[in-house]
Amino acid sequence: MVIFGATGDLTKRKLLPSLYNLMQAELLPEDFAIVGVGRESLSGAAFRDRMAQALTEFATGGTDPDLRDRLVSRLYYVAGEFTEAATFRALQDLLAKVDAEQKTRGNYLYYLATPPTVFATAVHQLGAAGLAAEGEGRWRRVIVEKPFGQDLESARALNQELRKDLPESQIYRIDHYLGKETVQNIMVFRFANGIFEPVWNRRYIDHVQITVAEEAGVEGRGGYYDAAGALRDMVPNHIFQLLSFIAMEPPVSFEAGAVRDEKAKVLHAIQSMTPEEVLRRSVRGQYGEGVVAGQTIRGYRAEGRVSPSSNTETYVALKLFIDNWRWAEVPFYLRTGKGLARRVTEIVIQFKRAPFVPFKDCPVEGLLANQLVINIQPEEGIALRFQAKVPGPAVRMGEVEMDFQYAEHFGSVPSTGYETLLHDCMLADATLFQRDDMVEAGWRISQPILDVWKALPARSFPNYPFGSRGPKDADDLLARDGRQWKVLTHDPGGRRRRNEHPAGAVRA
Ligand code: BG6
Repeated sequence: MVIFGATGDLTKRKLLPSLYNLMQAELLPEDFAIVGVGRESLSGAAFRDRMAQALTEFATGGTDPDLRDRLVSRLYYVAGEFTEAATFRALQDLLAKVDAEQKTRGNYLYYLATPPTVFATAVHQLGAAGLAAEGEGRWRRVIVEKPFGQDLESARALNQELRKDLPESQIYRIDHYLGKETVQNIMVFRFANGIFEPVWNRRYIDHVQITVAEEAGVEGRGGYYDAAGALRDMVPNHIFQLLSFIAMEPPVSFEAGAVRDEKAKVLHAIQSMTPEEVLRRSVRGQYGEGVVAGQTIRGYRAEGRVSPSSNTETYVALKLFIDNWRWAEVPFYLRTGKGLARRVTEIVIQFKRAPFVPFKDCPVEGLLANQLVINIQPEEGIALRFQAKVPGPAVRMGEVEMDFQYAEHFGSVPSTGYETLLHDCMLADATLFQRDDMVEAGWRISQPILDVWKALPARSFPNYPFGSRGPKDADDLLARDGRQWKVLTHDPGGRRRRNEHPAGAVRA
């Protein structure tokens, strides 16, 4: 495995700890080596020392010194610019040596953990050095990090550049949300159980909410974030991945092509918004100063490497429709933001209310609808909310939850979230990676929103305090449809509380 950007944060925090976890789980082959490529001038020994330290610091479940040393002994390093042919000649020589020492047989997995500006150049250089071509029983694969383009045009251009040196089958566009257990579990939940799929459509589902809320602000990434914003950073990639798993048709098999075809179809079926629709169906926000646990936290415009008059959004909420027979007229409400009250990623499937309730004095509109909540993080689990009779002589109804928690049932395995993705790529399983058409479809949907927002800079920023539930406009987006977001504020114990109410005095 060759990591470009080997001295960066991603390598030490995620990639090395993931490789360690894979080795511990005996999922790495015996004949394996890691070659780091970075701009910093470092000897192989210095690189090994640095990575040993990173493992001690960042390995998710602690480190066993023997195992750590075994992994570190397979590390090599090449210093150089990613734009210069000399770097790739040095890499070629080193790889020949590694092949001889570690019996890696010319099979190379490249990981582009670099700034996006060098993705295309690095791939061209690999091509020119003869390091991209497969053949004679050798495989070559390239993992490309995000962001994949900044808009539709740049994403298309990047796809074209990559394809000059690589066929689509060798390109693995990574989205770390697809490495999360509960995201993968959505497919198993929907398609390995008989009872959910029959009600998974417009006849029974009122609407869907997807929330990716973060407590943290931009955390030192102001330079990148101020040019990107919440929409580009989260929506065409992570949120659309969640949406496509929820909304896709059952694939004919779990083979990569079949799954990716169905996910792409969902994205292609999402209507592009007209400028008027963008104004009605999108909300943007930016956090201002706020108070959390008695401490004043600075607003976005006061963050490092952010313009003091920045108009970049740190929050976005959207209402989208999927134009197909399963989902026509079912709104998908999406929201994501930084500086919010609670860190939570969850999907809410809100079912329609019971059409008729044979209980005296109990108006149907007063009944709470069933809700299925898929928690992606921080707790991974699935909960179903329904009505039950409160024990006693009178007919009283209460709302209860059936609650499955991953950690309670299966225990937890140390994980960075990248293990499955790296392992799948080694096995040439592209199911959990983005295909060119999926990336472009994500940008096609986002582009009209970016265009309108650019033409009409936000006037009300900042419009929500750090640590709050987001801008009021986002609540209004749902209120106009007679709906509301699932509450975001932290409510320990709230998951288990029963909302009792007597029939006839039911909470709306
Ligand atoms: C990254 C974004 O892709 O995902 C970050 O660039 C964001 O801004 C992060 O914080 C969220 O990932 P996770 O796994 O913490 O939900």
